[in-house]
Amino acid sequence: MDIKKYVRTIPDYPKPGIMFRDVTTLMGHPQAFRRAVDELVQPFAGLKIDKVAGIEARGFILGGACAHQLSAGFVPLRKKGKLPYKAISQSYELEYGTDELEMHEDAIVAGERVLIVDDLIATGGTAEAGIKLLRKGGAIVEAAVFLVDLPELGGCKKIEDLGVPTTCLMRFD
Ligand code: PRP
Ligand code: HPA
Repeated sequence: MDIKKYVRTIPDYPKPGIMFRDVTTLMGHPQAFRRAVDELVQPFAGLKIDKVAGIEARGFILGGACAHQLSAGFVPLRKKGKLPYKAISQSYELEYGTDELEMHEDAIVAGERVLIVDDLIATGGTAEAGIKLLRKGGAIVEAAVFLVDLPELGGCKKIEDLGVPTTCLMRFD
């Protein structure tokens, strides 16, 4: 099954010149969604993954499904100001300005093995912040997985350079 064909491309969203890769169409297709989650977790089936960390917002959808499949816990990495309990934070660069990801300070027990999940990697800035946050919390970040890679933006290399093996199910050049 070719799951790439279920990703919809929207030209000029959110602004002119951007080809937006919309994964909601893949997620809405029962067989494509199952296949994507199966492929994301397959390399980790025999390994002990304690927790899956999903990045807000679409990483929650995939990450929750991956956690269930791996019988792991789930940790939300949220945009600043959304978590109810004490949180640790990590800033990252946006095209204009910065943003912050946050995680509950007790979400990870030191030494837990964590898989980080998001729908898409572009520059890698968001995933890098997620990895730094998890490491601050004491996690061993085993790997990072994404549905979509935009390789021209160099995100996967950035994550590999942090010492985190990275897998993507498809790329859009
Ligand atoms: C998108 C995507 C990733 C991030 C990738 O999320 O879901 O999380 O951008 O970009 P990067 O590799 O350049 O950091 P977005 O920031 O649009 O947030 P959303 O999921 O809340 O819409
Ligand atoms: N789709 C979804 N999220 C994104 C994209 C995209 O094409 N580019 C940067 N973040």
